[in-house]
Amino acid sequence: MSAASEVVVRAPAKINVHLGVGPVRADGFHALHTVYVAVSLYDTVTARPGKGLSLTVSGEGAGGRGAGLVPADRTNLVWRAAELLAAHAGVRADADLHVAKEIPVAAGLAGGSADAAATLVALDALWGTRAGREDLLHLAAQLGSDVPFGLVGGTALGTGRGEQVSPVLAGGRWHWVLGIAGEGLSTPRVYAELDRLRAAGQVPDVAEPGSADAVLTALRRGSADELGAVLSNDLQAAALSLRPDLRRAVRAAREAGARAALVSGSGPTVAALADDGRGAVRLAAELAGAGVFRTVRAVTGPVPGARPAS
Ligand code: C5P
Repeated sequence: MSAASEVVVRAPAKINVHLGVGPVRADGFHALHTVYVAVSLYDTVTARPGKGLSLTVSGEGAGGRGAGLVPADRTNLVWRAAELLAAHAGVRADADLHVAKEIPVAAGLAGGSADAAATLVALDALWGTRAGREDLLHLAAQLGSDVPFGLVGGTALGTGRGEQVSPVLAGGRWHWVLGIAGEGLSTPRVYAELDRLRAAGQVPDVAEPGSADAVLTALRRGSADELGAVLSNDLQAAALSLRPDLRRAVRAAREAGARAALVSGSGPTVAALADDGRGAVRLAAELAGAGVFRTVRAVTGPVPGARPAS
């Protein structure tokens, strides 16, 4: 086995341009038909040789425990990713890990999943374990529903509970503005709220997750116009129910000139689709001044999944 002295891997945030949520399965997860797009907002994981595991975190949400904060201990998905790969490869889990976060925490952008995906790639290289693509995807699925997509990146259809990913064709690159809220939302809470709303008849119940076909067609054709018309997220109603102020944020994005705007994943980030790069810069400036978001970020996607930083 070869041993590297330092490996640096970057992994992107994701947005869901389609999130069809079906009924709860026997294992407690919901059946999904989702379309992920990886966007140009990244966390970076640096892995160095060490004795046992150590983890430090800097940037967005660094500094401990509690809502919106990233723990720097074995409860972090990064730590679990390291232990899982070590057990799989039959090596000792020896590494000093550092996560530099730009992706906001509990934001519906799969930041924790990106970190886990980056860790698998980084330690596979550091330890020389040569796990192979299929093995890494399999380990990723054990860590979380969005982690396999963190490895794959680009544009992909997610089925099962979101962990079965197959790349899909995208005929273009889209420009988005992410409106990031001050306080995060817990993913399980948002799914539970959707179940409650469906049981109460406040949103339509479904027998299976809604089809992603319209979004897949729009992505293939590459037009922002068409994509904007078909964006959909079943978790949006639940996120809005838990955080009514988000309604104003989505409206603000549309009024500021977004072609379309929706809650990203389980929220509370709002993803606003711009016509082009200049439109995104304008939209970002307008939304930064609107006073409804903690911060805004202009991003593009699709971008590749977790890979060594050059
Ligand atoms: O897979 P992951 O650990 O990221 O999921 C976090 C939580 O989100 C789950 O414990 C579950 O409550 C909810 N979830 C779900 N159905 C999915 C994915 C996630 O109910 N398909």
